[in-house]
Amino acid sequence: MTNNTNFKIKKAIFPVAGMGTRFLPATKASPKEMLPIVDKPLIQYAVEEAVAAGITELVFITGRNKRSIEDHFDKAYELETELEIRNKHKLLQLTQDIIPPNVSCLYIRQPEALGLGHAVLCAQPAVGDEPFAVILADDLMDSEPGALMQMVKLYEQQATSILGVEDVPREATGSYGIVETRLADDGVQRVCSIVEKPHPDVAPSTLAVVGRYILTPRIFDKLKKVQPGAGGEIQLTDGIAALMKDECVLAMPLAGTRYDCGSKLGYLKATVNFGLKHPETRQAFSKHLAEIEL
Ligand code: UTP
Repeated sequence: MTNNTNFKIKKAIFPVAGMGTRFLPATKASPKEMLPIVDKPLIQYAVEEAVAAGITELVFITGRNKRSIEDHFDKAYELETELEIRNKHKLLQLTQDIIPPNVSCLYIRQPEALGLGHAVLCAQPAVGDEPFAVILADDLMDSEPGALMQMVKLYEQQATSILGVEDVPREATGSYGIVETRLADDGVQRVCSIVEKPHPDVAPSTLAVVGRYILTPRIFDKLKKVQPGAGGEIQLTDGIAALMKDECVLAMPLAGTRYDCGSKLGYLKATVNFGLKHPETRQAFSKHLAEIEL
């Protein structure tokens, strides 16, 4: 294997092939990653976070009913012509500026939703022998600098796999991969163990892995050997547990606020908070909220 330590992180994987069962029926025919927060779909926030962190190659792992994601990042000839004819230049620019010209998109189909680990493995032909990022768009991060940028900076110092983590209430451990960490001399947290969705009584800690990862390409060999776990899915967590035997994996607590937009409550909280910050809605929306009698 080549030495990857000098590589910059240029590629990000966006697994978007899940079934989104927690959001049915909204996700029956359209992907949850296209759910809008005010005026942008979740996947666009994720892509913007990646681009801000220096990513130039976006690899989407798609499944059935995901065509709207490809369309969203593609040129929309009819719409753009129509906006031009009507002199709607600002809207035209909004439509055209979704991805900067130096950034490219690639779509790989995951034939069956066999789990997040399997989705990441599907990206191997596009990623090759380079370290890469994984972003789960339903974990919407509100922070400056962006969550991935925080992790890329740490990668540039440490050149090893990094998991974005957050401290969660103990009763919530059953919804996350949970890590146990040890503080190293240089102040970083090394992962000593990782376990998928432990019951609160047996969870080794309350540090949960959230939807941001930087991984070395060694993960692919590990994922190939992972046996299907809970729900018959190939878990990324199991691949990371195997990776830890060969290399150091770090946990990085992310600054900022995370919204779990794969859940109804998290989605509503994100909508309210982003609505209160958006220049077009801020004033009238905060007035409306103040008027609501609870
Ligand atoms: P989730 O665990 O949130 O699953 O996947 P889900 O199917 O999307 O949603 P629920 O739990 O049924 O409501 C985490 C991420 O991994 C992707 C999903 O699209 C999501 O971004 N994923 C999951 C895949 O791409 N493929 C899979 O086989 C499973």
